[in-house]
Amino acid sequence: MEIIRVKDAQEGGKKAFELVKEEVEKDAKVFGLATGSTPETFYKELINSSLDFSDKISINLDEYIGLSGTDDQSYRYFMNEHLFNKKPFKESYVPNGKAEDLEAECRHYDQIISENPIDVQILGIGQNGHIGFNEPGTPFDTSTHVVKLTESTINANKRNFENVNDVPTHALSMGIGSIMKAKKIILLAYGKAKAEAIKGMVEGEITPDLPASVLQNHPDVVVIVDEEAASLC
Ligand code: PGA
Repeated sequence: MEIIRVKDAQEGGKKAFELVKEEVEKDAKVFGLATGSTPETFYKELINSSLDFSDKISINLDEYIGLSGTDDQSYRYFMNEHLFNKKPFKESYVPNGKAEDLEAECRHYDQIISENPIDVQILGIGQNGHIGFNEPGTPFDTSTHVVKLTESTINANKRNFENVNDVPTHALSMGIGSIMKAKKIILLAYGKAKAEAIKGMVEGEITPDLPASVLQNHPDVVVIVDEEAASLC
C-alpha cells in the first residue's frame, strides 16, 4: 500500500487526477467510481481537464435502494451532476435502486463487471471502515449484494437529507471480491472522522470487521490522505 500525504482535499483531488491520467495514457478503459463528498475535488479536476472519456466505461460502486436516478439524493443523480453531465463516458453504470427484482439486478451488475474488468477503482472509506457500502462483517469474497446500512453509515449520510428518517436503510453495493479484482485502487480520505478507519486499514489486522483492511492484500493500492485522516498513523 502506497500512502501519499496531501495538505487537503484540493491537493488530494489533483494527486488522484495525476494518477488517473497516467492510467489513461497507459490505455485504461474501465473506471470504478465512487460517490460521497470525498471524490468531489477529484471529479472537478477531471471535468476541468482535457482528458476524453467518451470511449471509456465507468462502473459505480453503489446505490440506495428505493431511489430512482432522478431523485436528487440518488447516487446516479450525484454522478450525473458531479461528473457525467460535464464529462461523458461511453457507458456509465450505476446499480438500479428501483429494480423490482433486486437479486436479478445484483447478478446483472456482476455480469457488467465481469464483461468490463475494472482498470482503476476509486474508493472512499466510511468512518466504520466500509468500502462501497460493504459494512463491517461483510465477507471478503462477496459480489454485488443487498446491504442493510449500519447506524454509523446512516448517521454519516444524514447530512445530505432533510430528516434522518429519509435516509434509505438499504443499498445495493458492488462486493469486496469485485473491488479486489480491480487492477489498481486509489482510496481517498480526508478529515479527522476518517483517522481511526485509516489507521486500522493501514496498520491493523486484516479482518471483515474493518472491510478496508482487505486492501492490504491487494498488489496495487494508493491511499491519498490529508493530515487529519493520517493523524493516527
Ligand atoms: P464520504 O463517504 O466521502 O461522504 O465521507 C465515503 C464513504 O462512506 O465511503
